[in-house]
Amino acid sequence: MVKFKNTEDKISIYKLNTPEEILKYYKNWSANNNYEKDLEDWNYHAPLLSCQFFTSQKIDQNSLILDAGCGTGLVGKILKDKGYNNVEGLDFSNEMLDLIPYDIYKKAYQADLNKKLQIPDNFYDHALCVGTFTYGHVRAKAFDEFHRILKNSSYFVFSINEGVFKSYGFDKAISKFEENKKWSVISLEKKIYIEKKDIEAYYVLVKIMK
Ligand SMILES: C[S@@+](CC[C@H](N)C(=O)[O-])C[C@H]1O[C@@H](n2cnc3c(N)ncnc32)[C@H](O)[C@@H]1O
Repeated sequence: MVKFKNTEDKISIYKLNTPEEILKYYKNWSANNNYEKDLEDWNYHAPLLSCQFFTSQKIDQNSLILDAGCGTGLVGKILKDKGYNNVEGLDFSNEMLDLIPYDIYKKAYQADLNKKLQIPDNFYDHALCVGTFTYGHVRAKAFDEFHRILKNSSYFVFSINEGVFKSYGFDKAISKFEENKKWSVISLEKKIYIEKKDIEAYYVLVKIMK
């Protein structure tokens, strides 16, 4: 018999729904950098795995990259170590942004990925969005904005918490973008996400088509 895995009960932030609740949670979680301490204790694999998918494509180190939902900069730190020096970070929470070390991103700014972004069309060469497609955070509708701000042939890597993959319609949205020739899916793999909480994520690498 297949045992039902109730991912929603594993971390208290997964119970929140409104932007106000999410922002308040991150304000408290970022205090004393408890966010990074917790995720290190829980063996959070998403930044490293996502960057491995990204760098598998031999992307030019000078290309302009967006780390969307960058939080405290865990993805940016890995990209910097790998030689990418033209990376910008975007996050909803100013308190998370405040914790980013000064030399990780060329620029880091506040924005809401569930809304229209103040970013021109075809602006970024590539993007990552790690840990941010999860309960109560950013919806699949945001794919429209990623498609708009990225260029033709851009790579886009993102993780989706296994608990919301079907229930929030990410599975259908990914397929629909492929059917409509808005991107081609290069890989979609379910792998470990937060090990000590026994949560997996779908890691998706797509190439934008325009
Ligand atoms: C689990 S953290 C992941 C942060 C970082 N990418 C990492 O892997 O450590 C999720 C991040 O998504 C951000 N976030 C939540 N809702 C958002 C929204 N609507 N727009 C942009 N960022 C959002 C949060 O502020 C938080 O920093």
